[in-house]
Amino acid sequence: MDKNAATVLAELREDHKNMALMINLLERESNLIYDGKEPDYELLHDIMHYMTVYPDAVHHPKEDRLYAELKAFRPDLSTGFERITMDHRHIAELSIKLRDEIASINAGNPVRRNAVVADALRYVNTLRGHMQWEELDLFRRIDEMIRSGHDVFDAANFVREVDPVFGPEVEDNFGRLVATIRKESAAG
Ligand SMILES: [Fe+2]
Ligand SMILES: [Fe+2]
Repeated sequence: MDKNAATVLAELREDHKNMALMINLLERESNLIYDGKEPDYELLHDIMHYMTVYPDAVHHPKEDRLYAELKAFRPDLSTGFERITMDHRHIAELSIKLRDEIASINAGNPVRRNAVVADALRYVNTLRGHMQWEELDLFRRIDEMIRSGHDVFDAANFVREVDPVFGPEVEDNFGRLVATIRKESAAG
């Protein structure tokens, strides 16, 4: 089956908006921990669960596929991003670490709060920087590839999973997270 790079790129840009929303919430809750206040640990858990099942498992592999297409068709536009796949792996490792720390707190285990804050902020900063690099540089190279005539690509091994939070249907596990997002956007 074939796919249009332009469609995929639009999906990736939409994902980034959603991921930015998630990391803003994560940052806010981790700032509460830093200030000695009680964060919403259930919310933190749901955010990190989402980050491991969608951005790490679906969004980043989609990007890897698109960057591979760019490399194959426009090697002239493909310099300087060799580390991208490693970055995706590194981000996934940070997500799992943070998700597990939060799960451990929720299970009643003693976890040093300032270690969680440090890991959360490292994660937020790493992912923000990564997304910014993609938006300001890599996605624009894909735009250029499309403009120069290469849009349709073979998507045989393409990851097709839908977004369990922002997609057409909210998965059961994420009802609470979606309710929080709606409440916050209604409050402006
Ligand atoms: Fe990425
Ligand atoms: Fe991305």
